[in-house]
Amino acid sequence: MNILVIGTGYVGLVTGTCLAEMGHNVICLDINEEKIKTLKQNQIPIYEPSLEEMVKRNVNANRLHFTTDYPSAIASSLVCFIAVDTPIGADGHANLHYIRNVAISIAQEMQEYRVIVNKSTVPVGTAQLVTTLIQETLDKRGVNIDFDVVSNPEFLKEGNAIQDFMKPDRVIIGTDNPTVAQLMREIYSPFMLSHERLMIMDVASAELTKYAANAMLATRISFMNELAGLCELNGADINKVRCGIGSDKRIGYSFLYAGPGFGGSCFPKDLRALRGQAQSFGYDMPLIHAVEVVNHKQKQLMAKKIASYFDTKGGLKGKTIGVLGLSFKPDTDDLRESASLVTIEQLLQQGAYLRLYDPVAMDNAKKQLSLYAHITWCADETETATGADALVLMTEWKQFRFLNFPLLLSKMKGIAFFDSRNQYHSLEMGKKGFDYISIGQPVVFATQAHITSTIDSEINETEFSLNQN
Ligand SMILES: NC(=O)c1ccc[n+]([C@@H]2O[C@H](COP(=O)([O-])OP(=O)(O)OC[C@H]3O[C@@H](n4cnc5c(N)ncnc54)[C@H](O)[C@@H]3O)[C@@H](O)[C@H]2O)c1
Repeated sequence: MNILVIGTGYVGLVTGTCLAEMGHNVICLDINEEKIKTLKQNQIPIYEPSLEEMVKRNVNANRLHFTTDYPSAIASSLVCFIAVDTPIGADGHANLHYIRNVAISIAQEMQEYRVIVNKSTVPVGTAQLVTTLIQETLDKRGVNIDFDVVSNPEFLKEGNAIQDFMKPDRVIIGTDNPTVAQLMREIYSPFMLSHERLMIMDVASAELTKYAANAMLATRISFMNELAGLCELNGADINKVRCGIGSDKRIGYSFLYAGPGFGGSCFPKDLRALRGQAQSFGYDMPLIHAVEVVNHKQKQLMAKKIASYFDTKGGLKGKTIGVLGLSFKPDTDDLRESASLVTIEQLLQQGAYLRLYDPVAMDNAKKQLSLYAHITWCADETETATGADALVLMTEWKQFRFLNFPLLLSKMKGIAFFDSRNQYHSLEMGKKGFDYISIGQPVVFATQAHITSTIDSEINETEFSLNQN
């Protein structure tokens, strides 16, 4: 099938490439000329595992094309996916400016029947808005052309986007037109060979499902972060509580990790947009608001923990902190709403010197933090630790799971390790010589761990001699 994908960002490029991989003939269109030029030169403007090989393969097979030219792209495509950004507006509502522009551009160029499929995350009513804008533009042109508008929200996760698109948990289609539903079924049939996961529903429910999914996931995160705060006061360990509740099948283990607060291009904006739409109906959503409040507080937490550690050590001003991980989560170069950026900005404001490292997000971070002095960009973990009074793990990249701690400690000036992702064993970190401060778990100081491990070995020796007798 001939398919057009409008917007060539994280969602659009993955959508277009995966559709081409399954044999469709795909044009990816963007108004960003630089992005299209990069893609035409066989380079990928974003980092997403396995994407580059797949793009190259499909370009070489002549199934995937890039353009900025609306007229030719619309002329040759029966189905037009919209995958443009829907940022949050200053008024707390989803900003549909880009969607509106796309709708008008399509209508200005359409010569015959087209199916417009919206993949962007949008409030209920957007498909209707797109329909109205297209119809108004066609009326202005004085032409009578039939079209359908479908809602098809995207659920892929950055860092696992290809896998998510190729093997989706579900594909949601919002339409009340059975012919269009059948067309969408055909497009997605190669992705459903093992079993059917396509759900057809009304447009409003499809549009709301995406916000509902993100709001539910964000709620679980804020719930755990709120509990983690209590654990820090009452001596419980959030990791043990997580295992305890996750074992209940009704709860499950996913999305139950305490951390530095959620970021990314979706959760924060989608919660705000959901609440914004509710407000326009005069409907209050105090639960969603609380999820946002908890998250905002959580994002301040790591900088607060670091500052409070140095309170008794001459203060944070002039101290050097090494930061491991800048992206909002592993396997992406996306920094949007990253907790790492919040921590970095707060540490800099308090006079700290920073040594920063991320496996793939360095270029984006350099652009974003270009106005700040007191930043040293590092090539790896060891360079980040060199001369640091403390290290802070902000993003749980796999390569940080087994760090060479003796080497890092030998390069550091201080001994503090702040772990915003609870990646390591507290007592082991203490035994390795770190003051280890994580989230929702007891703090372990190097000296205390040494005493604890001495007591442990004394107990073991006593048990051994008792057994011998
Ligand atoms: N990023 C994710 O993980 C993710 C996951 C699911 C859903 N979504 C949703 O998908 C949508 C797109 O997200 P994204 O992260 O891919 O955004 P993005 O910012 O990475 O990409 C959007 C692209 O659209 C282009 N664009 C804007 N106006 C245009 C126009 N008039 N014509 C052609 N191109 C235009 C921009 O130049 C940009 O390249 C958003 O609504 C987002 O909420 C994102």
